[in-house]
Amino acid sequence: MKIQLKDITMRFDHTTAVDHLNVTIEEGKLVSLLGPSGCGKSTTLYMLAGLYRPSEGELYFGERLVNKIEPENREIGMVFQNYALYPHLTVLKNIMFPLKMAKVPKKEAEARAKEMAALVQIDHLLDRKPSQLSGGQQQRVAIARALVKKPKLLLLDEPLSNLDARLRLEMREEIRRIQQEVGITTIFVTHDQEEAMSISDHVLLMKDGRMQQYSAPQDMYDYPKNKFVAQFLGNPPINIFPAKLSDDLQTIVLQDTRETLQLEAPISDPAAMNGDYELGIRPEDFYIETDSVKAGLKVETIRVERIGRDNLLNAKLGQINLRAIISPDVKINKGDMITLGIRPGRARLFDSSSGHNLLH
Ligand SMILES: Nc1ncnc2c1ncn2[C@@H]1O[C@H](COP(=O)(O)OP(=O)(O)OP(=O)(O)O)[C@@H](O)[C@H]1O
Ligand SMILES: [Mg+2]
Repeated sequence: MKIQLKDITMRFDHTTAVDHLNVTIEEGKLVSLLGPSGCGKSTTLYMLAGLYRPSEGELYFGERLVNKIEPENREIGMVFQNYALYPHLTVLKNIMFPLKMAKVPKKEAEARAKEMAALVQIDHLLDRKPSQLSGGQQQRVAIARALVKKPKLLLLDEPLSNLDARLRLEMREEIRRIQQEVGITTIFVTHDQEEAMSISDHVLLMKDGRMQQYSAPQDMYDYPKNKFVAQFLGNPPINIFPAKLSDDLQTIVLQDTRETLQLEAPISDPAAMNGDYELGIRPEDFYIETDSVKAGLKVETIRVERIGRDNLLNAKLGQINLRAIISPDVKINKGDMITLGIRPGRARLFDSSSGHNLLH
């Protein structure tokens, strides 16, 4: 089912939790709602679920305006962080519960519940109680229960945050598999950027109730609309350097060291003239320049750490600390002066006041 949020706003007494959100979610897609704590993710999800009624704006499920439709009539399934299973019921009875409420005959309910249990791979645990299951297994039960009425929209609010790191990884792959097998439109709330990046068709990144960007994960990473987006994605985070532009707007001049960098593309916002800027470079977009004639940033090595396949270089450019991910083949020691090149097309330039990315 296609979902549309048109100018959706949610106000509580003194807070605007969600501020004029405009989003279309295409049928069958998995979209992550991503952003820091308090940015309005759950509030958005609760409006979709019908638990909150928007203060303003229109919510469409397909062609149907659903602002005033009760949760039970929205054809949605929902999974929360804390599973919310019935402790006194077996796994099978937990999954059957929504069908029982809907007065589906017992035989049919049982068959459908078993089908869902097989989908989420817990059909060998049907007679257990929730307390006899691991966290991951409990979450599988919750997903099966949310899907048993064959909803048209699946809503997940931080479903993995109670799980340990390895189980999180396994369960996020499972959620993607189940979502694709069923083909259900799914909205997944998380504050974990890696989780959102890895399983989504699209990511909706929010801050203070406002949409910052809505794109495919890789596009958001490569073409962040603003500095907030660039900083929210990526680990280790993007390096930021205060900068100015030359009068002809061809050259970036780093404020601290006066190092210069030729602009490869014209600035997209002509209104931005000679103000204050910030250069953004992701750690993996540096490389060690050995050709002394070529341009690059002269930095002093502070520390080199081995992180799995690569080395993480901590260095100083003037007064500014930076991080670069570099090949472990090059031997560098603390105190060494080295030149870091920047991969073509990978520099970002943000306007300091608005934060807008001026190069894309
Ligand atoms: N029922 C409520 N009454 C008043 N304010 C609320 C209510 N629910 C949420 N808020 C406020 O709205 C804002 C958004 O809250 P929301 O729960 O949607 O954030 P979130 O992105 O889900 O955060 P988290 O990652 O911590 O779960 C916050 O400032 C919160 O304090
Ligand atoms: Mg929340």
